[in-house]
Amino acid sequence: MRSWPTDRVALGGDYNPEQWPRDVWPQDVALMREAGVSFVSVGIFAWSALEPEPGRFDLGWLDEVMDLLHEGGIAVDLATGTASPPPWFSHRYPDTLPVTRDGHRLWPGGRQAYCPSSTVFRDHAVRLAETMAQRYRDHPALAMWHVSNEYACHNTPCYCDTCAAAFRDWLRRRYGDVATMNDAWGTSFWSQRHTTFEHVLPPRQAPTASNPTQLLDYRRFSSDTLLDQFLAERAVLERVSPGVPITTNFMTLSHFRHLDYTRWAPHQDVVSTDHYLVATQADPGAELSFSGDLTRGLAGGAPWLLMEHSTSAVNWQPVNPAKAPGQMLRNSLAHVAHGADTVGFFQWRASAAGAEKFHSALLPHAGTESRLWRDVVRLGEVCGRLGELVGSRVEADVAILWDYEAGWACDQPSHPSQLVAYGDDAHQLHATLLHRGITSDVVSPAADLSSYRLVIVPTLYLMTDAGAAAVTAAAQAGAQVLVTFFSGIVDEHDHIRLGGYPGALRDLLGVWVEEFNPLRENETVQLDDGSVGAVWSERLDLRGAQAVASYAEGPLAGVPAITRRDVGAGAAWYLATRLQGEHLDALVGRLVDAAGVSAPYDCPRGVELVRRTSGTASYLFALNHRDDEVTVPVTGHDLVADVGTDGRLVLAPGGVAVVRERR
Ligand code: GAL
Repeated sequence: MRSWPTDRVALGGDYNPEQWPRDVWPQDVALMREAGVSFVSVGIFAWSALEPEPGRFDLGWLDEVMDLLHEGGIAVDLATGTASPPPWFSHRYPDTLPVTRDGHRLWPGGRQAYCPSSTVFRDHAVRLAETMAQRYRDHPALAMWHVSNEYACHNTPCYCDTCAAAFRDWLRRRYGDVATMNDAWGTSFWSQRHTTFEHVLPPRQAPTASNPTQLLDYRRFSSDTLLDQFLAERAVLERVSPGVPITTNFMTLSHFRHLDYTRWAPHQDVVSTDHYLVATQADPGAELSFSGDLTRGLAGGAPWLLMEHSTSAVNWQPVNPAKAPGQMLRNSLAHVAHGADTVGFFQWRASAAGAEKFHSALLPHAGTESRLWRDVVRLGEVCGRLGELVGSRVEADVAILWDYEAGWACDQPSHPSQLVAYGDDAHQLHATLLHRGITSDVVSPAADLSSYRLVIVPTLYLMTDAGAAAVTAAAQAGAQVLVTFFSGIVDEHDHIRLGGYPGALRDLLGVWVEEFNPLRENETVQLDDGSVGAVWSERLDLRGAQAVASYAEGPLAGVPAITRRDVGAGAAWYLATRLQGEHLDALVGRLVDAAGVSAPYDCPRGVELVRRTSGTASYLFALNHRDDEVTVPVTGHDLVADVGTDGRLVLAPGGVAVVRERR
């Protein structure tokens, strides 16, 4: 069995040979070698080619592909092939098709058209996974198992009767008896008290707002249910093909939050993810880096695998701009900066047919006489030179807390303001630090916070007692802690922590909030330090904290909006409104100064600096997000341009360098 390529940053992507005639396959392998491709993911959507009829498997074509790839020295991340069942499956088992919240059963014809709770689907998926494992466990090209694909991308939540029964079982396991569930769900409200689990339903479309804890539990259940699908395939791979690493590709994108990846990550031998830029985002480059920092957090700080991103345009937005010259290299290296040791793409060869035929690929429709192909070959050369940093780890003194359950609870309807969306504050603070050249780890509240000098708790609406205790302990031990509004409001059942907001954190922060007063869209409020608040304000009393800034106008004039309290060897800061731009940057400046955190080098705002280290070796990634040239005073060797830097690394707008530092 081959091991994963580590003599270089592995480069590759999804390879779908079943879309092409046989004579194309050797050409593919030759071109992969020309581009420096060292791995491919094969068979992800090949179920209908692998099992054209129920129980009749046709793997001959895949044998050929595997042999060709092995001869070409290309490692295979082999899919179990179970991402999308074939037409015969949906035809034979129509009850396995997913159902929407308003009771509409979806049809096959796209992909991933199966109910997450279906044991019929599971049995067929496990049978295919076992067939694949039996056939290829000893194949020398096999380097990793790729289970399914982007779980929950299209079929979660499902509200069918199978899910309803599975949800009841999940609730029985979680609560033991119906009285405990009633308490957790607060069912005395609106006459929702259940006498038996048998009457419980998924939160299907109701005349008005559903029970919030039911909604939250349904999210938990949906994530756990798909995790069980993964674990069923994982178990068969472990049994039949022991010793081969197993992964499934996450989607740590800001807009995808169907799965609680903190619960999934421990079951991956290596954490892998996909990332796509969304053209309408305010700061797509910063969002990309956030995704990398989150993925690294899920991997416990270890290097991870970027399974997919795009060489240029995607096809699923209203308008799909091409990447600018140099952007593919910059995006790829940004992922490596944040901990990826593998750079993968969707897909190897651009499809001629199908719903994704306008999606970019490593080998474009135009062929090899193209700018894109030349850029791919250049990326391959750079990945080859980066082999020496494989296995190194990212340095960060800042933790930003991220919690999928808190997000699910925060983004429910019937809250004080629909303008408060989970993730907004986290992304904004992360971007502000990034533009100062400061790297953050994005981690779960259950992570070990003891090594961080600055801990940020952004809109962490739902907090467990353990989470609140961990944040308090971090401050006691010397960290600067920043909490932003609408944090620590409810417990794990989405019940208000009574006695004044923010219940879980009011002692730590030394504040007591009587009432929220969210601001209308585009409404702002002046603060007495010259900054301007938006989105949120609240009637806050100091209970041990000091005011850093107060509202200077409106109904809350004179009420503190930013506070600070000494705590043990550290301090707890509270931001009770949303600051933007230079005002947020100024507050972050005070925090990083107090924490003693700084960028590796002095640079103007807008230069991303990330350091990866391994033993005594250290690598500085520098990405220029500005539209003018900048100089970074780093001495060493830039592995991208393959030149020495001698205290003066000059980066063009959009430029990127990876400097092996001489310190
Ligand atoms: C991913 C998916 C790929 C492809 C890609 C297009 O979500 O895993 O199969 O669809 O998006 O951007």
